[in-house]
Amino acid sequence: MRKSAIVFAFLGVLLLGIAPALAQTPVVNVYSARHYGAMEAVFARFTEETGIVVRLSQGSVQSLLERLRAEGAQTPADVFFSIDAGGLDLAAEEGLLQPIESEVLTTNIPEDLRDPENRWFALSQRFRTIMYNPATVQPEELSTYEQLADPMWKGRLCLRPATHIYTISLVASLIAADGEAKAEAVVAGWVANEPQFIDSDTRILETIQAGGCDVGITNQYYLGRKLSEDPAFPVSLFWANQGEDGRGVHRNISGMGVTAAALNKDNAIALIEWLSQADKGQLADVDGIPGGNFEYPVNAEAPVNEIIAAFGEFTIDPLPLSEYGDLQEQAIALLERTGYGF
Ligand SMILES: [Fe+2]
Repeated sequence: MRKSAIVFAFLGVLLLGIAPALAQTPVVNVYSARHYGAMEAVFARFTEETGIVVRLSQGSVQSLLERLRAEGAQTPADVFFSIDAGGLDLAAEEGLLQPIESEVLTTNIPEDLRDPENRWFALSQRFRTIMYNPATVQPEELSTYEQLADPMWKGRLCLRPATHIYTISLVASLIAADGEAKAEAVVAGWVANEPQFIDSDTRILETIQAGGCDVGITNQYYLGRKLSEDPAFPVSLFWANQGEDGRGVHRNISGMGVTAAALNKDNAIALIEWLSQADKGQLADVDGIPGGNFEYPVNAEAPVNEIIAAFGEFTIDPLPLSEYGDLQEQAIALLERTGYGF
């Protein structure tokens, strides 16, 4: 009894001592749609170097956007961290993000990788492309996303469901490039090929590996992760829509914007600036920060991880990132009309 009273008294003194220090600890509150383990190491490094503590609240792009809308000026979020350009674009258009004047950001991040009004900034690039089983598919048989509508792929495709933002943005890019009618015919062709709908890019790759399907569409970093664990992982990457076959591979980004209601605006800007540096976060592999995500940096000075550099050169679909949000609703409606899996 007595002993515990002493312990409580000691704890009380300890807490009294810590409380004022906690109150002064600089923080940045992040609504993060990105929840890969690698982020913790990156944020820990940021805190170590700046003293600013990162508080994360996680969810899907869509659910975080809903929270930002519902909370409005009351939101505790300083930063919206999205894994999709459409989500950032919608947040910006709806007045949920504020423009940021920062020479660091405009220097480190190329113009086509940030909002024209500087309300959001890309921090890494990811490319959604065709993956195949080299034991059953010759690369010469592959060309474009559109060509996967050919009946030759019947019963051979693995695709991500319509509910996932990756599918929605890919279909938005088809609408932008091909027009709505042709995009709809393409998606209807995919559906007619009776794909397996699998809500995990990792599991799509594993299903191809296991012979469950021959061709899939995934983000390129999922194959990077697999190859980092097993350099002989038996799935190959095909860059879609290259050369004479068109506009280039579909690009998306991870990126951040400062909320219009941010209480810790300076800390929010500090986080985005820090991540934009070539030798710091860049959400990629950085010396001393383990577990990079095998994405391509936005900062031209930043190194590209060797595993993904081995995927070779490719052309990127020039569709401006700021148009992804505008096409989102149309893409969702098109997916519903074609009976694409949920
Ligand atoms: Fe992902």
